[in-house]
Amino acid sequence: MAEGEADCRSDDCGFVRLRLTLLCLPQRSSIDSVERTVYAEIRSWGEDSLFRQRLRLALESHLIWETYALSYDQVLPRLDFYQEVVERHSRAFRDAARGSILDLGAGTGNVTIRLLEQGHRVTALDISRAMLDRLLSKVDRQPDGVVSIVRHDAADLVQWTSASFDGVTILLALFDMANPAAALGEAMRVLRPGGMLVVTEPKRTFDLSSLLRYAERCLREQGAYDALQEHWARVSKVNRKIDPSARRERIFIEDIRERLELSGFSITREEDSHHGNCATVWAVRNSARGATVGGR
Ligand SMILES: C[S@@+](CC[C@H](N)C(=O)[O-])C[C@H]1O[C@@H](n2cnc3c(N)ncnc32)[C@H](O)[C@@H]1O
Repeated sequence: MAEGEADCRSDDCGFVRLRLTLLCLPQRSSIDSVERTVYAEIRSWGEDSLFRQRLRLALESHLIWETYALSYDQVLPRLDFYQEVVERHSRAFRDAARGSILDLGAGTGNVTIRLLEQGHRVTALDISRAMLDRLLSKVDRQPDGVVSIVRHDAADLVQWTSASFDGVTILLALFDMANPAAALGEAMRVLRPGGMLVVTEPKRTFDLSSLLRYAERCLREQGAYDALQEHWARVSKVNRKIDPSARRERIFIEDIRERLELSGFSITREEDSHHGNCATVWAVRNSARGATVGGR
Protein backbone atom coordinates (compact mmCIF):
# COMPACT_ATOMS: atom_id res chain seq x y z
CA MET A 1 0.00 0.00 0.00
CA ALA A 2 1.28 3.50 -0.83
CA GLU A 3 -0.23 6.89 -0.04
CA GLY A 4 0.23 10.41 -1.29
CA GLU A 5 -1.52 13.70 -2.00
CA ALA A 6 -2.16 15.33 -5.35
CA ASP A 7 -3.47 18.76 -6.32
CA CYS A 8 -5.69 18.96 -9.41
CA ARG A 9 -7.24 21.87 -11.23
CA SER A 10 -9.91 21.72 -13.91
CA ASP A 11 -12.18 24.29 -15.56
CA ASP A 12 -15.17 22.25 -14.47
CA CYS A 13 -14.47 21.91 -10.74
CA GLY A 14 -11.69 24.37 -9.95
CA PHE A 15 -8.99 23.34 -7.46
CA VAL A 16 -9.26 19.98 -5.66
CA ARG A 17 -6.77 18.31 -3.27
CA LEU A 18 -6.89 14.51 -3.30
CA ARG A 19 -5.48 11.90 -0.98
CA LEU A 20 -4.49 8.87 -3.07
CA THR A 21 -4.09 5.35 -1.76
CA LEU A 22 -2.63 2.69 -4.01
CA LEU A 23 -3.55 -0.91 -3.22
CA CYS A 24 -1.75 -3.75 -4.99
CA LEU A 25 -3.42 -7.14 -4.62
CA PRO A 26 -2.41 -10.41 -6.30
CA GLN A 27 -4.95 -11.49 -8.89
CA ARG A 28 -6.75 -14.73 -8.17
CA SER A 29 -6.42 -15.86 -11.80
CA SER A 30 -2.63 -15.62 -12.01
CA ILE A 31 0.19 -15.57 -9.46
CA ASP A 32 2.31 -13.39 -11.80
CA SER A 33 -0.03 -10.41 -11.98
CA VAL A 34 -1.25 -7.89 -9.44
CA GLU A 35 -4.32 -5.72 -9.58
CA ARG A 36 -3.67 -2.09 -8.76
CA THR A 37 -6.50 0.07 -7.45
CA VAL A 38 -6.18 3.75 -6.62
CA TYR A 39 -8.66 5.16 -4.10
CA ALA A 40 -9.04 8.93 -4.27
CA GLU A 41 -10.43 10.83 -1.29
CA ILE A 42 -11.28 14.52 -1.68
CA ARG A 43 -9.49 16.38 1.13
CA SER A 44 -10.35 19.95 0.20
CA TRP A 45 -11.48 22.11 -2.69
CA GLY A 46 -11.01 25.70 -3.66
CA GLU A 47 -14.06 27.25 -5.31
CA ASP A 48 -16.73 25.72 -3.12
CA SER A 49 -19.85 26.57 -5.06
CA LEU A 50 -18.41 25.54 -8.44
CA PHE A 51 -17.32 22.15 -7.10
CA ARG A 52 -20.60 21.45 -5.30
CA GLN A 53 -22.66 22.54 -8.30
CA ARG A 54 -20.74 20.17 -10.61
CA LEU A 55 -21.02 17.32 -8.15
CA ARG A 56 -24.76 17.87 -7.76
CA LEU A 57 -25.29 17.96 -11.54
CA ALA A 58 -23.23 14.80 -12.04
CA LEU A 59 -25.18 12.94 -9.34
CA GLU A 60 -28.51 14.17 -10.67
CA SER A 61 -27.67 13.01 -14.19
CA HIS A 62 -26.45 9.66 -12.87
CA LEU A 63 -29.72 9.13 -10.96
CA ILE A 64 -31.85 10.12 -13.94
CA TRP A 65 -30.32 7.41 -16.13
CA GLU A 66 -30.37 4.86 -13.28
CA THR A 67 -34.12 5.48 -13.11
CA TYR A 68 -34.73 5.59 -16.86
CA ALA A 69 -32.83 2.31 -17.37
CA LEU A 70 -35.53 0.49 -15.34
CA SER A 71 -38.24 1.33 -17.88
CA TYR A 72 -36.54 2.40 -21.11
CA ASP A 73 -36.88 -0.87 -23.00
CA GLN A 74 -40.32 -1.59 -21.58
CA VAL A 75 -41.74 1.55 -23.18
CA LEU A 76 -39.61 3.08 -25.95
CA PRO A 77 -39.55 0.14 -28.39
CA ARG A 78 -43.40 0.17 -28.35
CA LEU A 79 -43.54 3.70 -29.74
CA ASP A 80 -43.69 4.07 -33.51
CA PHE A 81 -41.50 7.20 -33.61
CA TYR A 82 -38.75 5.44 -31.65
CA GLN A 83 -38.94 2.30 -33.81
CA GLU A 84 -38.68 4.53 -36.87
CA VAL A 85 -35.48 6.30 -35.81
CA VAL A 86 -33.78 3.11 -34.64
CA GLU A 87 -34.55 1.65 -38.06
CA ARG A 88 -33.26 4.84 -39.73
CA HIS A 89 -29.97 4.79 -37.87
CA SER A 90 -29.31 1.14 -38.57
CA ARG A 91 -30.42 1.40 -42.21
CA ALA A 92 -27.87 4.18 -42.74
CA PHE A 93 -25.12 1.55 -42.50
CA ARG A 94 -26.98 -1.43 -43.96
CA ASP A 95 -25.43 -1.32 -47.40
CA ALA A 96 -22.00 -0.29 -46.17
CA ALA A 97 -18.98 -2.56 -46.22
CA ARG A 98 -18.62 -4.15 -42.77
CA GLY A 99 -16.78 -1.62 -40.70
CA SER A 100 -16.37 -0.21 -37.26
CA ILE A 101 -19.19 2.02 -36.04
CA LEU A 102 -19.27 4.21 -32.96
CA ASP A 103 -22.67 4.39 -31.23
CA LEU A 104 -22.31 7.54 -29.13
CA GLY A 105 -24.68 7.69 -26.16
CA ALA A 106 -25.66 4.09 -26.99
CA GLY A 107 -27.97 3.71 -23.98
CA THR A 108 -29.55 0.26 -23.78
CA GLY A 109 -28.15 -0.53 -27.22
CA ASN A 110 -31.16 -0.69 -29.52
CA VAL A 111 -29.15 0.71 -32.46
CA THR A 112 -26.01 -1.22 -31.46
CA ILE A 113 -27.89 -4.52 -31.68
CA ARG A 114 -29.14 -3.77 -35.19
CA LEU A 115 -25.67 -2.78 -36.37
CA LEU A 116 -24.21 -6.00 -34.95
CA GLU A 117 -26.89 -7.98 -36.82
CA GLN A 118 -25.68 -6.29 -39.99
CA GLY A 119 -22.17 -7.59 -39.35
CA HIS A 120 -20.51 -4.36 -38.21
CA ARG A 121 -18.09 -4.05 -35.34
CA VAL A 122 -19.58 -1.63 -32.82
CA THR A 123 -18.17 0.50 -30.06
CA ALA A 124 -21.10 1.38 -27.79
CA LEU A 125 -20.18 4.32 -25.58
CA ASP A 126 -22.30 5.78 -22.81
CA ILE A 127 -21.74 7.54 -19.51
CA SER A 128 -24.42 5.60 -17.61
CA ARG A 129 -23.53 2.26 -16.11
CA ALA A 130 -27.21 1.40 -15.62
CA MET A 131 -28.03 1.93 -19.32
CA LEU A 132 -24.93 -0.02 -20.41
CA ASP A 133 -25.83 -2.90 -18.08
CA ARG A 134 -29.03 -3.31 -20.10
CA LEU A 135 -27.02 -3.27 -23.30
CA LEU A 136 -24.59 -5.83 -21.93
CA SER A 137 -27.41 -8.25 -21.16
CA LYS A 138 -28.40 -8.18 -24.87
CA VAL A 139 -24.97 -8.81 -26.41
CA ASP A 140 -23.54 -11.58 -24.28
CA ARG A 141 -23.21 -14.08 -27.13
CA GLN A 142 -21.08 -11.95 -29.48
CA PRO A 143 -17.66 -13.24 -30.57
CA ASP A 144 -14.59 -11.44 -29.21
CA GLY A 145 -13.72 -8.10 -30.80
CA VAL A 146 -17.14 -7.50 -32.37
CA VAL A 147 -18.63 -5.24 -29.74
CA SER A 148 -16.87 -3.06 -27.29
CA ILE A 149 -18.87 -1.45 -24.51
CA VAL A 150 -17.27 1.62 -23.03
CA ARG A 151 -18.44 3.68 -20.10
CA HIS A 152 -17.08 7.12 -20.76
CA ASP A 153 -17.98 10.76 -21.31
CA ALA A 154 -18.54 11.42 -25.02
CA ALA A 155 -16.98 14.86 -24.63
CA ASP A 156 -13.53 13.31 -24.41
CA LEU A 157 -12.68 10.45 -26.78
CA VAL A 158 -8.94 10.84 -26.28
CA GLN A 159 -8.41 7.07 -26.28
CA TRP A 160 -9.29 6.97 -30.00
CA THR A 161 -7.05 8.51 -32.61
CA SER A 162 -8.57 10.72 -35.28
CA ALA A 163 -10.36 8.94 -38.15
CA SER A 164 -10.61 5.61 -36.32
CA PHE A 165 -14.26 4.80 -37.16
CA ASP A 166 -16.00 4.11 -40.47
CA GLY A 167 -19.28 5.47 -39.15
CA VAL A 168 -20.79 7.26 -36.16
CA THR A 169 -24.40 7.17 -34.96
CA ILE A 170 -25.85 9.54 -32.36
CA LEU A 171 -29.50 8.97 -31.54
CA LEU A 172 -30.93 11.50 -29.11
CA ALA A 173 -27.92 11.69 -26.83
CA LEU A 174 -26.25 15.09 -27.35
CA PHE A 175 -29.26 16.97 -25.98
CA ASP A 176 -28.70 15.49 -22.52
CA MET A 177 -24.93 15.95 -22.34
CA ALA A 178 -23.20 18.47 -20.10
CA ASN A 179 -20.93 19.51 -22.99
CA PRO A 180 -22.70 18.60 -26.24
CA ALA A 181 -20.51 20.82 -28.42
CA ALA A 182 -17.37 18.99 -27.27
CA ALA A 183 -19.03 15.60 -27.85
CA LEU A 184 -20.06 16.57 -31.38
CA GLY A 185 -16.49 17.77 -32.04
CA GLU A 186 -15.12 14.43 -30.87
CA ALA A 187 -17.65 12.51 -32.99
CA MET A 188 -16.49 14.43 -36.07
CA ARG A 189 -12.82 13.92 -35.24
CA VAL A 190 -12.94 10.15 -34.80
CA LEU A 191 -14.86 9.60 -38.06
CA ARG A 192 -12.66 8.78 -41.04
CA PRO A 193 -12.85 10.89 -44.21
CA GLY A 194 -15.60 9.43 -46.38
CA GLY A 195 -17.35 8.04 -43.30
CA MET A 196 -21.00 8.68 -42.42
CA LEU A 197 -22.30 10.44 -39.30
CA VAL A 198 -26.03 9.97 -38.63
CA VAL A 199 -27.47 12.13 -35.91
CA THR A 200 -31.02 12.63 -34.62
CA GLU A 201 -31.62 15.39 -32.09
CA PRO A 202 -34.46 17.76 -31.08
CA LYS A 203 -35.44 20.70 -33.27
CA ARG A 204 -35.69 24.24 -31.86
CA THR A 205 -39.48 23.85 -31.88
CA PHE A 206 -39.34 20.68 -29.75
CA ASP A 207 -42.50 20.30 -27.65
CA LEU A 208 -42.25 17.62 -24.98
CA SER A 209 -45.88 17.77 -23.82
CA SER A 210 -47.32 16.95 -27.23
CA LEU A 211 -44.87 14.06 -27.67
CA LEU A 212 -45.73 12.62 -24.25
CA ARG A 213 -49.46 12.92 -24.99
CA TYR A 214 -48.95 11.11 -28.29
CA ALA A 215 -46.86 8.35 -26.63
CA GLU A 216 -49.47 7.76 -23.94
CA ARG A 217 -52.20 7.53 -26.58
CA CYS A 218 -50.08 4.96 -28.45
CA LEU A 219 -49.80 2.76 -25.35
CA ARG A 220 -53.55 3.03 -24.70
CA GLU A 221 -54.40 2.12 -28.30
CA GLN A 222 -52.13 -0.92 -28.04
CA GLY A 223 -53.99 -1.94 -24.87
CA ALA A 224 -50.63 -1.88 -23.07
CA TYR A 225 -51.20 1.14 -20.87
CA ASP A 226 -52.56 -0.59 -17.76
CA ALA A 227 -49.78 -3.16 -17.63
CA LEU A 228 -47.13 -0.51 -18.22
CA GLN A 229 -48.54 2.24 -16.01
CA GLU A 230 -45.62 2.18 -13.58
CA HIS A 231 -43.05 2.21 -16.39
CA TRP A 232 -44.91 4.95 -18.21
CA ALA A 233 -45.03 7.11 -15.06
CA ARG A 234 -41.24 6.72 -14.76
CA VAL A 235 -40.58 7.45 -18.44
CA SER A 236 -42.69 10.60 -18.48
CA LYS A 237 -41.22 11.87 -15.20
CA VAL A 238 -37.64 11.40 -16.40
CA ASN A 239 -38.44 13.03 -19.73
CA ARG A 240 -39.77 16.10 -17.95
CA LYS A 241 -36.45 16.31 -16.10
CA ILE A 242 -34.37 16.07 -19.26
CA ASP A 243 -36.64 18.18 -21.47
CA PRO A 244 -34.28 19.49 -24.20
CA SER A 245 -36.00 22.87 -24.36
CA ALA A 246 -35.27 23.48 -20.65
CA ARG A 247 -31.55 22.58 -20.79
CA ARG A 248 -28.80 25.02 -19.92
CA GLU A 249 -26.31 23.73 -22.52
CA ARG A 250 -28.65 23.50 -25.48
CA ILE A 251 -27.82 22.11 -28.86
CA PHE A 252 -30.49 21.57 -31.48
CA ILE A 253 -30.34 19.73 -34.77
CA GLU A 254 -30.24 23.07 -36.61
CA ASP A 255 -26.99 23.98 -34.74
CA ILE A 256 -25.55 20.54 -35.41
CA ARG A 257 -26.29 20.75 -39.12
CA GLU A 258 -24.61 24.16 -39.34
CA ARG A 259 -21.56 22.98 -37.42
CA LEU A 260 -21.21 19.92 -39.65
CA GLU A 261 -21.33 22.03 -42.79
CA LEU A 262 -18.72 24.43 -41.42
CA SER A 263 -16.47 21.51 -40.44
CA GLY A 264 -16.04 19.83 -43.82
CA PHE A 265 -19.10 17.56 -43.87
CA SER A 266 -21.61 17.22 -46.70
CA ILE A 267 -25.23 16.83 -45.66
CA THR A 268 -26.60 14.08 -47.86
CA ARG A 269 -30.10 13.91 -46.41
CA GLU A 270 -32.30 15.24 -43.62
CA GLU A 271 -35.70 14.16 -42.40
CA ASP A 272 -38.01 14.93 -39.48
CA SER A 273 -38.69 12.38 -36.76
CA HIS A 274 -40.76 12.20 -33.54
CA HIS A 275 -43.75 13.78 -35.31
CA GLY A 276 -41.78 16.86 -36.32
CA ASN A 277 -40.16 17.44 -32.92
CA CYS A 278 -36.74 16.09 -33.91
CA ALA A 279 -34.83 15.55 -37.14
CA THR A 280 -32.16 13.26 -38.52
CA VAL A 281 -29.17 14.50 -40.49
CA TRP A 282 -27.01 12.19 -42.59
CA ALA A 283 -23.57 13.73 -43.12
CA VAL A 284 -20.47 12.45 -44.89
CA ARG A 285 -17.04 13.64 -43.85
CA ASN A 286 -15.48 15.06 -46.98
CA SER A 287 -12.37 13.38 -48.26
CA ALA A 288 -10.01 14.08 -51.14
CA ARG A 289 -11.05 10.84 -52.82
CA GLY A 290 -14.75 11.21 -52.05
CA ALA A 291 -15.25 7.61 -50.86
CA THR A 292 -18.22 7.07 -48.57
CA VAL A 293 -19.38 4.41 -46.19
CA GLY A 294 -23.09 3.88 -45.79
CA GLY A 295 -25.85 4.89 -48.12
CA ARG A 296 -29.32 5.23 -46.83
C1 LIG B 1 -32.17 9.21 -24.65
S1 LIG B 1 -30.83 8.11 -24.33
C2 LIG B 1 -30.55 7.51 -25.98
C3 LIG B 1 -29.96 6.13 -25.98
C4 LIG B 1 -29.86 5.47 -27.34
N1 LIG B 1 -29.08 6.25 -28.27
C5 LIG B 1 -31.24 5.21 -27.89
O1 LIG B 1 -31.63 5.94 -28.81
O2 LIG B 1 -31.94 4.34 -27.40
C6 LIG B 1 -29.43 9.21 -24.09
C7 LIG B 1 -28.17 8.50 -23.63
O3 LIG B 1 -27.10 9.46 -23.61
C8 LIG B 1 -26.26 9.10 -22.52
N2 LIG B 1 -25.37 10.22 -22.15
C9 LIG B 1 -25.71 11.37 -21.52
N3 LIG B 1 -24.63 12.14 -21.34
C10 LIG B 1 -23.58 11.46 -21.87
C11 LIG B 1 -22.19 11.74 -22.00
N4 LIG B 1 -21.67 12.88 -21.54
N5 LIG B 1 -21.40 10.83 -22.60
C12 LIG B 1 -21.92 9.66 -23.07
N6 LIG B 1 -23.23 9.34 -22.97
C13 LIG B 1 -24.05 10.23 -22.39
C14 LIG B 1 -27.23 8.72 -21.43
O4 LIG B 1 -26.60 7.97 -20.41
C15 LIG B 1 -28.27 7.94 -22.22
O5 LIG B 1 -28.01 6.56 -22.23
